[in-house]
Parts: sequence; C-alpha cells; structure tokens
Amino acid sequence: MLKEKTFLITGIADEQSLATYAAKEIIKQGGSVICTGLGVSPFHKDLSEKAKAFLNKNFEDFKEAVHRSLGNSRVEVLDITLEENLDSLSRQLKEEGVKLNGLLHAIAMDKTIRNKKVKPLLEVTKEEFCDTMDVSAYSLIRLTRYLLKYGVLQNDASICSLSYIAAAKVTFHPYRNISIAKAALERITIELADELGRSHGIRVNAVRFSPFMGSKAGNATLNEEDIEISNRMSPLGNAAPQDLANEIVHLMRPKSRITGEIRHVDGGYHITG
Ligand SMILES: NC(=O)c1ccc[n+]([C@@H]2O[C@H](COP(=O)([O-])OP(=O)(O)OC[C@H]3O[C@@H](n4cnc5c(N)ncnc54)[C@H](O)[C@@H]3O)[C@@H](O)[C@H]2O)c1
Repeated sequence: MLKEKTFLITGIADEQSLATYAAKEIIKQGGSVICTGLGVSPFHKDLSEKAKAFLNKNFEDFKEAVHRSLGNSRVEVLDITLEENLDSLSRQLKEEGVKLNGLLHAIAMDKTIRNKKVKPLLEVTKEEFCDTMDVSAYSLIRLTRYLLKYGVLQNDASICSLSYIAAAKVTFHPYRNISIAKAALERITIELADELGRSHGIRVNAVRFSPFMGSKAGNATLNEEDIEISNRMSPLGNAAPQDLANEIVHLMRPKSRITGEIRHVDGGYHITG
C-alpha cells in the first residue's frame, strides 16, 4: 500500500510511543520512515548540565527504540521548537534528494501536569501556556513550513497529527492547559487542510485516540482508574495503539481525498457522556 513512499515520523521516545506503532505499520505496508527524536542539537543554546543529560538520555532511548522496532530506519535530532534545527534538517533532506510523502506529528508537552496532578487553569502562567502551545500545536505549522520551503514535502502528501477528546470536551480527568493546545492543534489541522489542499494537494488530518498509559506521556498524566473508566464508557472499549497505527496508514495512503478531518479512534468514547 505504501511501497516506495517515505514518511517523517516525529514523537518517538521509546518502543511504547504511539509514533513507534505507527512507524512499524508504515514499514509493514511497504513504506520507509525517517524518525526524529528530541536530543541535544547544535542549535541549543545555554543548556544546563541537567537539561543536557535529560536530552542525551532521551535521544539514546529513541535510537534504541528505532533500532529494535524499526530496523535500520534513519534517525535525526529534532527539537521542534528550534527554527534553526528545522531549517537545517529540511535543507539536508533536500540536498540528499529526499521526497516525503507524509509526516506524523506526535509531539506534546505540558509542564503544568506534574505527578499526574493538573494545575488549575487560573494558576497557569503565560509562559507555561505559550510553551505548551508552541511545542504541542504551533509546531505543526513550523514543521510543515520548513519541509515545504525546501520542497521536501511532496504535492499530494499526507499530514497527520495526534489529538485527544479533551480538545472539545471536559472529560472525567480534565487536562486544562494541554486541552487548549489540542484544540489549537485541531483548528490548525483544519486551516492547513484548506490552505495546503488548494496550494499543494496536501491532506491534513488529526486523530483523537483513547487514553493509553504505555507511553511516557500517557504514564506521566494518567492513572489506571482513568483507563478503566474510559474503557467502560467506550462502546467498543478503549482502542489500542495498533488500531491507531492502522488508521494512520489509512490516512497516509496516496491519492485519497480525505482531508480536514478530526477522526476518532477511541472505541466510540466520543459518542457517550
Ligand atoms: N498517551 C495517550 O493517552 C494519548 C492519547 C491521545 C493522544 N496522544 C498524543 O499522542 C502523541 C504522542 O504521545 P505518546 O502518548 O506516544 O507519548 P510519548 O511520550 O511517547 O511521545 C511524546 C513525544 O513528544 C516529544 N517531544 C516533546 N517535546 C518535544 C520537542 N520540543 N521537540 C521534539 N519532540 C518533543 C517527546 O520526546 C516524545 O517523543 C502526543 O501528541 C499525545 O498528546 C496521547
């Protein structure tokens, strides 16, 4: 289905990252992937020793996960907030003649959730709000802009990002700050679908997925109880990462006319409550 197609995969932290499942399925369907992971780049400035150690460990875990799950797929460092990092990566891909048929945006960060506790919105600072927005939502615009600037992202490519029902509804475990960023990510998806559909024939969609504790982000924010409640409320029970991977492959298929969609892979959770 995806023979001779190449996809950029962001957001792999380890083997349990949702992006790892998606990349594995893309490869199974004949595609190839270039994976980006968060690590120390030449474009970081004034990193503390602690931050450096965190980023280095993150990148090692990322490389290990790619090696174990995705064979010899290419890996690159990318901090999605750094313009220079994106410019350099996109230029390099261009110089090597890489042509991308799609990309997966699977990146989110919110420092107002600590030890599974969510800060009330009234206490969220402007800096915390803007950081979360930058990493989790605006980054989709920034990533797309640089890949297009260098002609790496092909006409007819497919862009997919990962969201959550909290973008639209207050759920039994409200996320507050990141919910607002997810709402922005979904609106960006729709606006880009219109812009890029007309200018480049590029499709842009987002998928809202069930809560999943296996990944680092999921584990940092969810409790077992949340998973059970959601499982009970969903007519088909919680969706699994493989269900999500199948849907992403479906959206990545060439020549479909699906765009501007906010899809649900959540066992039907969204129709309840
Ligand atoms: N786990 C869930 O319950 C769930 C449900 C629905 C949607 N999602 C979404 O799926 C996506 C992937 O999350 P996951 O659950 O696989 O967790 P994860 O922790 O495996 O992935 C989050 C990724 O974001 C990356 N990241 C954070 N800041 C970055 C930056 N500045 N530059 C580059 N990368 C950065 C991390 O390195 C990590 O790879 C996120 O958008 C998340 O909101 C998760």
